[in-house]
Amino acid sequence: MSTHRRPIIAANWKMHLTPSEAARYVASLLELMGTRMDTQTAEVEVVLAPASPALDRVAQALSGSGICVAAQNVSAEPEGALTGEISAAMLADLGCRYGIVGHSERRALFGESSELVSRKAAALLTCGIHPIVCVGETLAEREADRTRAVVETQLGESLAGIPEARANELVIAYEPVWAIGTGQTATPAMAQTVHELIRGHLRTRFGASGDEIRIQYGGSVKPENAAALLAEPDLDGALVGGASLYPESFASIVRAAAGL
Ligand code: PGA
Repeated sequence: MSTHRRPIIAANWKMHLTPSEAARYVASLLELMGTRMDTQTAEVEVVLAPASPALDRVAQALSGSGICVAAQNVSAEPEGALTGEISAAMLADLGCRYGIVGHSERRALFGESSELVSRKAAALLTCGIHPIVCVGETLAEREADRTRAVVETQLGESLAGIPEARANELVIAYEPVWAIGTGQTATPAMAQTVHELIRGHLRTRFGASGDEIRIQYGGSVKPENAAALLAEPDLDGALVGGASLYPESFASIVRAAAGL
């Protein structure tokens, strides 16, 4: 982790936790983080991304805590006859500070292209929400030695719609697809190699702002491996799936980030 980028630890609950379960989760997380919360949330930015129906309850329960809320998805369109979609303006009204776009599950299971991801990121920025843009290679791509090409292409296309002046509002999440939900984590050195490549891309694309953009790692982050991963210079946080579903393990990942 670098000294000038404030680490960001985000919980991606995916399609887990009903609004009532989410409210109970927040109560226990706040209790677990307790009196140390002021220090921890000052040193580390803590973000919860519940499923859409729980956003309102979670935002209200977190009010005044310093922990913020993220959406897991957004429509690229501002409004219209788009049954089932949720606009960036609606998410902003609910108090979302961040929005995840381009998660590999959306790319693989819902056919989202990088071009769509770029439009979604731009839609978020229009409403003052910071996009967390996910990229990452599959196992087949890594084995074919295509990690660099895949990540560069995803980044180029997914950030095409981002104006240079808004670059410092971005967060990038490097999530190797083979590490998501598999228990198989990239080693700190493997992750750092790709984060360095992403950093280089961001510098070329956005100049000095490229140094300000935080790059999270995601893929089987747990309390046991968080500190070693976050010790790498270009790992500025984590996007946590499975281990974020339990307040105890999520709190201990936050503690690991605060302790560095
Ligand atoms: P995981 O998920 O921590 O369960 O691997 C990470 C993610 O998909 O963001």
